[in-house]
Amino acid sequence: MEVGRVVTVYGQSLLRFAVHEDKLGYLARPGAYVKVEASGGWSYAMVVSFNLLDELYRKSRIVEELEGYPEIRPSRNELVAMLVGYYDGKGFVRGVPELPRPGQKVYLADGEELARFVGSGDIAIGRLSQNPEVRYTLSLDMLCSRHFAVLAMTGAGKSNAVAVILGEILEKFPYSRVVVVDTHNEYVPLAEKFDRVRVLSPAGRIARLVEARYGVKPSPLEVPIWTLGLEEIAGLLRLDPTRATKQVMYLRGALQEVRRARYKYAGADDPIYFRAEELLGYLEGLQKSSRQRYDRSLDDLVLKLEMLLENSELRYVTRPRNSDRLYEGLGGEEPRRSVEAYMRVYGALLEPGVTLIALGGLASDAQVSTAATILKSLWRIITASVLAGKPQPTLLVVEEAHNYAPQGRWSPAREILEKIAKEGRKFGIGLGVVSQRPRELSQTLLAQCGTLIALRTANPRDQEYILGSMEDVMREMVEGLSGLVTGEALISGSAAPLPGIVRIDSFPERYGVNLGGKDIDWRAAWSTPQPKADLAEYVLGEPEEEEEERKTSTIDKFL
Ligand SMILES: Nc1ncnc2c1ncn2[C@@H]1O[C@H](COP(=O)(O)OP(=O)(O)OP(=O)(O)O)[C@@H](O)[C@H]1O
Ligand SMILES: [Mg+2]
Repeated sequence: MEVGRVVTVYGQSLLRFAVHEDKLGYLARPGAYVKVEASGGWSYAMVVSFNLLDELYRKSRIVEELEGYPEIRPSRNELVAMLVGYYDGKGFVRGVPELPRPGQKVYLADGEELARFVGSGDIAIGRLSQNPEVRYTLSLDMLCSRHFAVLAMTGAGKSNAVAVILGEILEKFPYSRVVVVDTHNEYVPLAEKFDRVRVLSPAGRIARLVEARYGVKPSPLEVPIWTLGLEEIAGLLRLDPTRATKQVMYLRGALQEVRRARYKYAGADDPIYFRAEELLGYLEGLQKSSRQRYDRSLDDLVLKLEMLLENSELRYVTRPRNSDRLYEGLGGEEPRRSVEAYMRVYGALLEPGVTLIALGGLASDAQVSTAATILKSLWRIITASVLAGKPQPTLLVVEEAHNYAPQGRWSPAREILEKIAKEGRKFGIGLGVVSQRPRELSQTLLAQCGTLIALRTANPRDQEYILGSMEDVMREMVEGLSGLVTGEALISGSAAPLPGIVRIDSFPERYGVNLGGKDIDWRAAWSTPQPKADLAEYVLGEPEEEEEERKTSTIDKFL
């Protein structure tokens, strides 16, 4: 169907075209596709913005302005479209081999041809907003090897989009391997639907919260202190190692010492076994030996470490019972023994399926240090397996990525995330980052994401930042982000068959399970009496049974 005429061609790939008044209805929102003839085929373009003039205003303009094409003279509704690709009669290619000429006729692309272009990928994520009969799909290879970012303001549908991607991966790829840093336990309901979803959570209060809310009992997550590097431990102690303070120096020395007690060539970051008490013991020893020269920063460090060891929430780091048992059971020489235990602890996360690291309810420093340790360990294991000729392609998904890789601020997880984004491709490590604050997310990280899934984003600074950090994205597209409805996304980049405005499937509708991030129904909650819950066991850190077990294990030692 003919809809108008090309008026101007400008920029790298933009065209402005005038539209017949009666055809405007077909093109009324961004995301519609049009085409113009090109040598031997068609060039396709996506509508990105509008300049529609009021009838009366238009009539008042001087005649010269209305010159041009007689059939559209009475209307001067202009649309801007971005050229996205070319079809030569055989296959669709991205890019613009030839620019259209002003005056060329513009046609509406129909659903059938669009379905051919966008429907043959692996991951069916939604439907074209403008042509709801057309399934829109993404390429799994490109999604994983070139990384992707899911960005939008809060409540716009990021987690839903990621859940749909995970659902597709689980359904279509029986040996897929995905690890999700689930900052708010939003993905736990996936475990109800799919057997191959495992939920891991720190034992105690955090695991009880997951169980109470979702009825899914998580497996205990352990991130043993001896597997943490200097930065992760510094993070837990709220020290910033980029400011080389005395405390960081002490900590580094202490870590090296306790690790060298078992393996004399160990560095401060090597995963060599030690117990949390040994670290404290070493620092206390230092404190005693320097008593004459009273050192306040050392005292303060010891106090911080004591508080860390007393924190019952962090037992999965400071008293990792299962991993300790594993280590003790291993025997053998160092460093092999430690490395073996290390590989088993983190190798377990790489079993095929989707592993959810549910960290909701933990303090944010603990979340970051935990994620950093896990990501570094997975990196070590996966890169080693590639070098050994046994690759384990893995997709890592990080929710609230701006907490882990912030722009312009130190965080123990930032460097590893940037490294994965830059070098992961070679080792079969894919990264998906999700953030509601794009402008607080590391620009280095964002620049490495080949695919953008951007839902509604109203903040102009966020839009500006997305524009500056992502290749392949144009201002006209980003400005339209504020007009999207919930669940609607601009998808562009390497995994996208062509840039598109897509209505993402609703995960609950598709799979019959609600996700964790669902908005609270205020009207309902405030219209009926609300049940009182017994919250004591979710507020207190120390569960009775664990106390019991600890007693027996202390007694065990005497026996
Ligand atoms: N594609 C969709 N279709 C229909 N409803 C959707 C869609 N995506 C999201 N929603 C609804 O919007 C609400 C918020 O979605 P979601 O939790 O995915 O947002 P979010 O961007 O992850 O938010 P937050 O930043 O708070 O994590 C949910 O209640 C969900 O049901
Ligand atoms: Mg979310």
